[in-house]
Amino acid sequence: MKSINRHVLYIIISITISSQTTQAQKKTNEQRVDSVMSLMTLEEKVGQLNQYSDDLIATGPITIDADKASQIKKGQVGSLLNCMGSERTRTWQKAAMQSRLKIPLLFAQDVIHGYKTTFPIPLAESCSWDLKAIELSARVSATEASASGINWTFAPMVDICRDARWGRVMEGAGEDTYLGSKIAYARVKGFQGDKPGEINSLMACAKHFAGYGAALGGRDYNSVDMSERQLLEIYLPPFKAAANAHVATFMSSFNDLNGLPSTGNRHLLRDILKGNWKYDGFVVSDWSSIGEMITHGNVKDGYEAALCAMTAGCDMDMESRNYKNNLIQLVKDKKVSVSLIDDAVKRILHKKFELGLFDDPYKFCNTEREQKELNDPTHALAARDVAKRSIVLLKNDNHLLPLSKNTKTIAFIGPLVKPKMQNKGFWDVEVPGIDSAYVVSQWEGLVNKVGKTSTILYAKGCNIEGNNRDGFAEAVNVAKQADVVILSIGERRDMSGEAKSRSIIEIPGIQEELLKELLATGKPVVVIINAGRPLVFNYTAKNAPAIIYTWWLGSEAGNAIADVMFGDYNPSAKLTMTFPASTGQVPLFYNHFNTGRPPKNDSDLRNSYIDLPIYPRYEFGYGLSYTSFQYSQLHLNKKKLKSNEQLEVSATITNTGNYDGEEIVQLYLHDLVGSIVRPVTELKDFKKIALKVGESKTITFSIDAEKLSFFNQELKWVAEPGEFDIMIGASSKDIQLKDRFELVE
Ligand code: GLC
Repeated sequence: MKSINRHVLYIIISITISSQTTQAQKKTNEQRVDSVMSLMTLEEKVGQLNQYSDDLIATGPITIDADKASQIKKGQVGSLLNCMGSERTRTWQKAAMQSRLKIPLLFAQDVIHGYKTTFPIPLAESCSWDLKAIELSARVSATEASASGINWTFAPMVDICRDARWGRVMEGAGEDTYLGSKIAYARVKGFQGDKPGEINSLMACAKHFAGYGAALGGRDYNSVDMSERQLLEIYLPPFKAAANAHVATFMSSFNDLNGLPSTGNRHLLRDILKGNWKYDGFVVSDWSSIGEMITHGNVKDGYEAALCAMTAGCDMDMESRNYKNNLIQLVKDKKVSVSLIDDAVKRILHKKFELGLFDDPYKFCNTEREQKELNDPTHALAARDVAKRSIVLLKNDNHLLPLSKNTKTIAFIGPLVKPKMQNKGFWDVEVPGIDSAYVVSQWEGLVNKVGKTSTILYAKGCNIEGNNRDGFAEAVNVAKQADVVILSIGERRDMSGEAKSRSIIEIPGIQEELLKELLATGKPVVVIINAGRPLVFNYTAKNAPAIIYTWWLGSEAGNAIADVMFGDYNPSAKLTMTFPASTGQVPLFYNHFNTGRPPKNDSDLRNSYIDLPIYPRYEFGYGLSYTSFQYSQLHLNKKKLKSNEQLEVSATITNTGNYDGEEIVQLYLHDLVGSIVRPVTELKDFKKIALKVGESKTITFSIDAEKLSFFNQELKWVAEPGEFDIMIGASSKDIQLKDRFELVE
């Protein structure tokens, strides 16, 4: 299928129902909420705070209630998750319509990177730095899921993470707060559309609030301990960006933060979120995280867990049943006021009115629409477009890539050449009754691209794990017959994701040994690395002539990889996480402090290890292109900036190579002296620009006091007078233009 112009694609897909929610209508919703509240018993109110998983699939330790349907008919359940499809959701909604007040259910699902059409894992998408592409991905996902009865997704995950051992890095947007905040905003807009209640939109959920990505040792669910300053400056801004995008819900995180589990952390949920940020949506716990506070040890039983969570500001209980089992008694015991419960119920009912579920509970349960949306061919085009923009070119010696479409014989080798489902990564949605195995494998993508003109040979070579070398001989034999070898290696897709932290983040098994054997044939080898996290692959990095990092690219993986390998798309992505040279370096991130003894070079092991320098294999913001770009003519409209002024910065970028391409121009700042130490460099803006061969563009950035600000020792958000280096470049290390300016009183 020919690809179509991406802007046309956006128009086709992001058609929004023009229903302006006027202020009057919002007022009407509030009045309607109050009128329903006035009719509710305490038991019915508590029912709204109770969320169960359907028994179809479990994304946590499932409890099977034989009487789930009768509880719903009695109005004792406010929401279901993991219930998919127009028919199944309609069935459960009908049960809710038998309740006394006919309050509709919310249907939630982890639509993280696609529904039937699977998009690249979010970490891969973040490497596109393409906010339109990222919004499109969420838009298509919302269009498909909302056609299948779902009206709430537990996404975007906006946890900043600096530790590639943590399996859930695959779900986020990497290590940088500025980029992560921009992406959080784009994803919320993509999922929620322009107005609440649009038929092709979902309520989004900013998760996991908060600090979950900073788990000690990169171990999932582990403790988090950090200063309030670091929490406010590094980890909370993407959540604030989601709130600014009017994200409908938040999810509290499993971890304890500074000694208190987030689910029972009043400072997080009431002081910061509902207080300072004046957040008016609702907070759902993570799976049984209310009950898990007993295990944490800050409460002794379910009664205390419910008290702690409700007091802290957690509105809905996912799967633990502690609200259902204890809140009424807590009210009778005067431990919890009805007003607290009323606040939680109002927040939830308000969303149900906004979605239009009281007007039409079956609004999202339309089988004809489901069929249409789940088979819309433009969705595959969108998936392919986003996927190719997520592929990072790490190495390309002697311009081995792009390959010629006239290559006579190609050997496609490796354990990830033929598998389909692997390309979906973790947190894909297995839609019951729907062919969610729709994936173009890497083999199929190559055949689609050059199968008619090239001879393509195959050998698996080895498994992803284990040390069985039996397949090496065949792989070497196949390689010897080819003009070029493509080797696809990496992790298994379930080696990253929830509860998938790894203590050693190297390419598993003997896959790099297979590469060594293939290189010994003297044939040129292109290496494709598939993973849900940054991996360590020093042998490959040093010896392979060409490397592309494809993450997990989803339904159109094979086609997108072939587009890049054969030059139908010039790779433009750049890394949003630092790639370490050893697991032992982790956590390793670009915007670190200078310390009093920074290493001067590789051999200076002072602020390093005696056995390893602290420099990464690939830095934040790194990624190559088939073409080359020249940076020139840096201009600042002033060198002294007052706190109420804007600094205008311009630079000219020229495509000096042989391919049309896109460059992600990055702007970094270094605050030379602060009242507290400041990072050696910080991303403060970026622009992704397309340039034809020989074309130049002058781009401009604006710097204001907000971009110079940080939380000082008193936790005040301040911009302090002093000098700043401004750096513009192709990565956090590849600085092409530099100047200095001063912020004056
Ligand atoms: C899981 C995850 C959370 C997900 C929820 C529902 O444990 O932590 O991200 O949304 O449960 O599946």
